[in-house]
Amino acid sequence: MNPTANNDLEGEPETGGARTVPTEASSERTAGTRATELAHRGAPSTVSSPKTGNLIQGVGLRKAFKIGDRTLEILHGVDLSIRHGEVVAMVGTSGAGKSTLLHVLGLLDRPSEGKVLLEGADAWSLPTAARAELRNKKIGFVFQFYHLLPELSAVENALLPAMIAESRSEFRRNKDEHFERASTMLHRFGLGARLKHRPEQLSGGERQRVALARALFLNPPLLIADEPTGNLDSVTGQKVLELLFEEQERRGITLLLVTHDERLARRCNRILHMGDGMMIRDSAIPVPD
Ligand SMILES: Nc1ncnc2c1ncn2[C@@H]1O[C@H](COP(=O)(O)OP(=O)(O)O)[C@@H](O)[C@H]1O
Ligand SMILES: [Mg+2]
Repeated sequence: MNPTANNDLEGEPETGGARTVPTEASSERTAGTRATELAHRGAPSTVSSPKTGNLIQGVGLRKAFKIGDRTLEILHGVDLSIRHGEVVAMVGTSGAGKSTLLHVLGLLDRPSEGKVLLEGADAWSLPTAARAELRNKKIGFVFQFYHLLPELSAVENALLPAMIAESRSEFRRNKDEHFERASTMLHRFGLGARLKHRPEQLSGGERQRVALARALFLNPPLLIADEPTGNLDSVTGQKVLELLFEEQERRGITLLLVTHDERLARRCNRILHMGDGMMIRDSAIPVPD
């Protein structure tokens, strides 16, 4: 899988130019005052009644790729449900289909068969613009290779979801607020002195922190992270993970994290094991005797 081709925020066809989509994105302060109506977004430290029930469900998910005249089936009918606030690790050998599944669940790649229900909405049956809006607001995605826009600064990369979500005039109106909020986030993420750096001027760990800020910018209820430390040394990776877990807890959001690290997986509430395009074990489901 080439995640670049599917990257949500970087000219992926379905979101490209989706400036007409209205947004409620604004400052952390404003997001806080709307905490009741937006509780599902997990506005930091202001959420009084977190949502319960399923946030995302995959039903009978199959995915096949055409290679020349051959069809390669990668996902063989995956079912899963993840509830609001769950912290879920996904493990499995390389090539098991984890990234493919995350891209389907994350509304980046259409399944060949099956459904993705996001807060009950059948996401893949929505028109493209509506699905792009849903994805931008509800799902933050962190990739192994960051996928930041090279020509934008750290702060601009972080606020990209607001740029995508808003019309040009709205964005112009809210620009200062977005910059302020992105700067505040990046300061909190230890990047206060890197706001104007472009990705090539940042280390891997710094890039991943910017990518995390971008994923969380609109306070989505779901954060999907596909081996977010896979390209980092262990010390740097550990720091990024601590930040990721800290933000999950702070916001009370749902986390779906692919990792090879067993210790890390055990830190999560639940572990999903993928094998050969199938969900072979789910720690939430007791194994029959
Ligand atoms: N776009 C694609 N075209 C063809 N085959 C793909 C594509 N993306 C992934 N695959 C294949 O699907 C299988 C699973 O890939 P992937 O989901 O990336 O696995 P994992 O993330 O578990 O390592 C691999 O054999 C890979 O080669
Ligand atoms: Mg993968």
